[in-house]
Amino acid sequence: MALIEWQESFCTGIPGVDHEHKQLIDDVNAVYAMIDRKVEKELVIDSLGDIYGSIAAHFALEEQMMKKHGYDQYLEHKADHDRLLDEIREITDEFEASTDLNEKKFKQKLNDWFQNHFKTFDSRLHKLTDMMSHVTVDEISMRSLIQQAKNALFGRAG
Ligand SMILES: [Fe+2]
Ligand SMILES: [Fe+2]
Repeated sequence: MALIEWQESFCTGIPGVDHEHKQLIDDVNAVYAMIDRKVEKELVIDSLGDIYGSIAAHFALEEQMMKKHGYDQYLEHKADHDRLLDEIREITDEFEASTDLNEKKFKQKLNDWFQNHFKTFDSRLHKLTDMMSHVTVDEISMRSLIQQAKNALFGRAG
């Protein structure tokens, strides 16, 4: 069973944004399935790192866009991003230290984020005409954003 099911209440109403958010949910579910299949711990941790990287990259693009347009709620929005990233970092550390993912906590944190962050912060942001979709970046820049965040998560240089 999937960890998180997409719900109508997650919709911001902007197709590009909803698509990215759905992608993040798919990624989370894929890692959850790996845990279920008892895939090697190292691989799961690596995938959790990918998720952290994808979410961090997604947030970085939103923040870039907000800054560019002088968005009035930039600080509050960024604080919520930082809070969620801290939580995922914590969950990953816990998983690394133990043998299993704290499923309930993971699910609750992510649900909380999808519900509250998408519904409030993101929907307000993306309803402004200038910020209907995230800035688009090419595949290579995107991959390097994800990799940088992943490296930071695991305390690697670069
Ligand atoms: Fe956001
Ligand atoms: Fe978003």
